[in-house]
Amino acid sequence: MGAGTADGELAGRVSEAGALGVIGASWLGPDEIGVLVDRAREITSNPIGINLLLFGNDDLLPVVLKARPAVLSTAWARDDQDLGSIFAKAHESGAKVMHMVPTMKDAERAAEAGADLIVAQGTEGGGHVGLMAATVIVRQVVKAVAPVPVLAAGGFADGAGLAAALALGAHGVLMGTRFLATLECPVPQFFKDAIVASDGTDTLLSTVPDTLTGRDWPGAWARVARTDFVKDWTGKEPELRRRRTEVQARLERAWEADQPDYWNFWWGQSAGLVESVLPAEELVRRIMTEAENSVRILCSKLVSP
Ligand SMILES: Cc1cc2nc3c(=O)[nH]c(=O)nc-3n(C[C@H](O)[C@H](O)[C@H](O)COP(=O)(O)O)c2cc1C
Repeated sequence: MGAGTADGELAGRVSEAGALGVIGASWLGPDEIGVLVDRAREITSNPIGINLLLFGNDDLLPVVLKARPAVLSTAWARDDQDLGSIFAKAHESGAKVMHMVPTMKDAERAAEAGADLIVAQGTEGGGHVGLMAATVIVRQVVKAVAPVPVLAAGGFADGAGLAAALALGAHGVLMGTRFLATLECPVPQFFKDAIVASDGTDTLLSTVPDTLTGRDWPGAWARVARTDFVKDWTGKEPELRRRRTEVQARLERAWEADQPDYWNFWWGQSAGLVESVLPAEELVRRIMTEAENSVRILCSKLVSP
């Protein structure tokens, strides 16, 4: 996840527990990225990843690779970007490349460009997503890019989801929303509480958040919480473009005053599976144990000894 959500503390704890923690580096300065990476490395000597949203962060690629992540995590490239040369630079620096895609066509482009791992992301996910359901896109991508390993993303928040992803042919899952509701995630408590309270029906696909920032994500919708902010501006995007400064100031006041009704939250439908705020390391261990149990139970029920 992006800057302000997946920082060095959260990514470090996730990696320390045996998963791969990924620091969001998009739109940060080189010094800020350095601080996040240093913090993660204080916590763990396990591999960490660093994520860049390719379409708007060309200048940061050398900075991120200089930090020597084990994995360069990428997503949302523009059509004019040469993925092959970006991935080759990562490989020269010693990093593996994990690229996230919302369609099979994008998966084939990433595989041809030399991605080591492809994340097939379903529309259920939080933040910027495409329109395909995870069960379909994961299966399509697994078949299209074999033998390149695939992770499933969008709607996975527990061990049963991980087991389901493995059954679809994925090698694992990538989770965002679930890790917003961790002790370490640096978002305000009211954000975490809102995720725990959510039944998963309170998000929608919108262009309002990007109209506010003016960032032109290639091919993406934003899955956001259906707050008053999003409701107020849906269908009035041209006016929002004109009044960006004023609306941004209003959002900042609401954030400081802990007023969740008027804010721009990104989370996915998997919020409906989040029951409590947990320490990230405990969460990773729970997910792995639950997945093992799910697989064990399924095998004993469905496969004769
Ligand atoms: C708050 C938030 C911020 C995100 N920021 C990024 C980002 O900067 N880069 C990226 O590749 N994906 C980002 N994502 C998308 C995640 O990588 C992932 O695809 C998604 O969270 C998976 O679905 P889930 O939320 O159901 O777990 C973000 C997601 C959320 C919820």
